[in-house]
Amino acid sequence: MVPGPADRLALVEGARLLVEAMEVRHLAAIFAATPDVVVSNLLRPPGEAAEPAGDVLSRLATASQFGWDKAQGGDLAYIPSGGLFTGAVGAWLASAIHAFTGAAFEAPALVAMEESVLRWVADTLGMPGDAEGILLSGGSLANQTAIVCAREHGRVGPTSRVYLTPRAHHSVRKGLRLSGIPDAEARSMPADSRGRIDVPALRRQLAQDCAEGAAPWMLVAVAGDTDTGAVDPLPELADIATQYHAWFHVDAAYGGFFTLTGRGTERLRGIERADSVTVDAHKSLFLPYGIGGLIVKHPGALVRAHAADGAYLRDVEDLDGLPHYFGRGPENTRPFRGLLAWLPLHLHGVAAFRMTLDRMLDLAIEAAGSLRSIPGIEVPRDPELSITLFRATDGDEATERIVGALNNSGRFHVSSTTIDDRVTIRLAFLHPRTSRELLDDLVALVKRTQAG
Ligand SMILES: Cc1ncc(COP(=O)(O)O)c(C=O)c1O
Repeated sequence: MVPGPADRLALVEGARLLVEAMEVRHLAAIFAATPDVVVSNLLRPPGEAAEPAGDVLSRLATASQFGWDKAQGGDLAYIPSGGLFTGAVGAWLASAIHAFTGAAFEAPALVAMEESVLRWVADTLGMPGDAEGILLSGGSLANQTAIVCAREHGRVGPTSRVYLTPRAHHSVRKGLRLSGIPDAEARSMPADSRGRIDVPALRRQLAQDCAEGAAPWMLVAVAGDTDTGAVDPLPELADIATQYHAWFHVDAAYGGFFTLTGRGTERLRGIERADSVTVDAHKSLFLPYGIGGLIVKHPGALVRAHAADGAYLRDVEDLDGLPHYFGRGPENTRPFRGLLAWLPLHLHGVAAFRMTLDRMLDLAIEAAGSLRSIPGIEVPRDPELSITLFRATDGDEATERIVGALNNSGRFHVSSTTIDDRVTIRLAFLHPRTSRELLDDLVALVKRTQAG
């Protein structure tokens, strides 16, 4: 069961060859249809007998040739994830080291590394030095963890109300449901002309609800909505949350790390006034999937919402200044996620992330300018962060033709949404491999498609 050194080396060498094969795939078409037979073969369960590493890895190599290749710069669909190679090495090392980082006393030095990442994130967001955080699997779990903190802090019962930004990510509704909050307690607010929360409408709703005896306990804003990248008016919302003693949560899963840049800091001004902020390092830090985080301004709030005990925990030792993450969040056993971020942040330096995010903001502006100049194309709004919206003036069918042309080109993956009841293409720039040349090629393809 325990492999000897030679077996380990063979496996590592096999994995190295597979990574090299993936680099070749990244130069091929961005999409490859998966033959049914490949799927049916891979649905087979494992057998009793051991299989040679080469055979096993070759099945993985085959499987990873199909579907959309998320490691290419042409991936502009949904919210891209760069999948930095150094992050993948961090993930591999974290599982190879195999330390339990759920409790500080088991691995104080490794927990210190994870804490250093969380403190850096909190500082980047402008949160105070005693803010606390937890790294989780992604934005969804971070949003739910924030909801649980807010619920413990301020929800009194069925008369309580939570107010949601109009394009709240679906994980917010899911998180409310999983946290036992009935749908009837949640109010989705109307949008202003830029798709952000309509502040006067929110004020009217709050006044009316309070007059009817309801108790606001949470306000959820978004800093970079998934569809358009719009940022809610955070300073005004912070004022409102303070006035109503409601927990102010900002879902910055996509937009949060833009605070590393000057323009992002300006656009996300007010985020530092939030009670909690969701960030997603597998989005805007380009790391491999599986690392998001929640920063909470109030020391002890995470523990109050999550602490649990058991007789078998009697030997757990507390250490000054280092947390037990199992008591700060929903997970007990968890991967050493801190290393996924710690390794790339130290290897590349923070400036590299800042420059890449700045480049993403530039690409979004350049894309808007170039697309606007194509006859028959309109850009309904200027990009607020790194998402550019455009559509055909001729209507939805013409817009869908462009989606088809881009997605069948072998070079791009784009996705669409609806804005003002019109199908609208979104180009989400968040991949370090997306270049200016690639954007020029995309614009040229849109132009050719429009010209028929
Ligand atoms: C604004 C926002 N919040 C939350 C999420 C959910 O994050 P995850 O997919 O990491 O769970 C997303 C995902 O795209 C998002 O864009």
